[in-house]
Amino acid sequence: MLSEEKNRLLTEVGPGTPMGDYLRRYWHPVAGVAEFDNKAVRPIRLFGEDLVLYKDLSGNFGLVQRRCPHRNADLAFGFVEQCGLRCAYHGWQFDQSGQCTHQPFEEIVDVEARLRQKTKITAYPVRAKAGMLWAYMGPAPAPELPDWEPFSYTNGFAQVVMAEIPCNWFQCQENSIDPIHFEWTHNNWTGRQQDSHAEHVPTHLRTLYEEFEYGFVYKRLRAHESEANPMWTTGRVTLWPNGFYLGHHFEWRVPIDDHNTLSILWVLNKVPKEREPYVQEHIPAWYGPLRDEQGNWITTHVANQDFAAWVGQGAITDRTKETLGASDRGIVMMRRRFFEELEAVAAGKTPKGLITDAEANRNVFLPSACRDEMMHGLTRDALAAHPLLGAYLRDFFGQYGQPDAVREAYEAAIGQKTEGARFFSVHGGRPTGDAGDEAA
Ligand code: FES
Ligand SMILES: [Fe+2]
Repeated sequence: MLSEEKNRLLTEVGPGTPMGDYLRRYWHPVAGVAEFDNKAVRPIRLFGEDLVLYKDLSGNFGLVQRRCPHRNADLAFGFVEQCGLRCAYHGWQFDQSGQCTHQPFEEIVDVEARLRQKTKITAYPVRAKAGMLWAYMGPAPAPELPDWEPFSYTNGFAQVVMAEIPCNWFQCQENSIDPIHFEWTHNNWTGRQQDSHAEHVPTHLRTLYEEFEYGFVYKRLRAHESEANPMWTTGRVTLWPNGFYLGHHFEWRVPIDDHNTLSILWVLNKVPKEREPYVQEHIPAWYGPLRDEQGNWITTHVANQDFAAWVGQGAITDRTKETLGASDRGIVMMRRRFFEELEAVAAGKTPKGLITDAEANRNVFLPSACRDEMMHGLTRDALAAHPLLGAYLRDFFGQYGQPDAVREAYEAAIGQKTEGARFFSVHGGRPTGDAGDEAA
């Protein structure tokens, strides 16, 4: 349970708020590079600011304020030039730094372009990496854009999967340090949606949370597992400040504003060794819906189950009305760490886990329960039998709505058809079930 004031401290992300300013000290993935295959400009809202993301004719990306400073036209209607974006109303043009570089009629009248030189709009650096576009909205100089090791894994098929979630970012991130929910949200709920008498899966017996440079590691031991299980020996990473790393995929929860969050998943699936060498030419990016055609929440896929849980907590969950228990130890640790960080940064300290040394930012290691397999690959049979990775050969259960073209590209990569199941049995799903049971 938290006071109202402390809840606000965790959840308010607009400009000038302690958490908003804190999070702006990090690079955040905000879109898929592939979104700009067929369009050049689109609006985007981040940390309570309305912005426009574009790819100019030189192939450079820019992120600038949404309103034109001339007479407030919407720059999302603008069009790109060789260098930068031009307003579609009177043609003022802005480069990546936000500097106005052309004011067509003004420059006829004033050849010295005095007005143009003083016109500058808000602009943020944006970079492409791993098929995602990353933005940095904090003070200069920007830190390094993390080069997490999995971004360099070879012989894999990556995809960027997004959704806009109508709730605050922090309740989404609390899910990154909440092992117990797997058993209920992903195993038992999945079971009961198919069969109202389905037996519950084996329960968690122990959890452990450890802090490290780039966040926390959580470990869990379930009733059907031994202490040699990699979920207990290695665990998973609560990636600071707003990510989750599970060895074969990342999840980030990027604030759109106080009441909305961009969920962005980067999922990497190894192709069977028989398909190596495989080089992915194009990393697809897609958005999935939250509701079906009847308006009902989609609760079949792993991320959708999480989304329903988070949104169900309320737009900004009321942490004055909680009943925390032993299952929430990680959450309490994470909240406490954020409060300490906000104080430390206010006192001039560097935020946790920020990478500022380019030399140190090469293939940055993160603990992973399937690192060996993701680095070196597995034969088709071994992959199919793998407790964490096998299910990906059968279906994309990560999030609902995968476009057919993405599925087909994946099938071509792995050299087999997927099954198109409606429900999925994921990690911990059954004690004696087939080996491909453990996936999420
Ligand atoms: S409003 Fe943008 S150029 Fe006039
Ligand atoms: Fe989950």
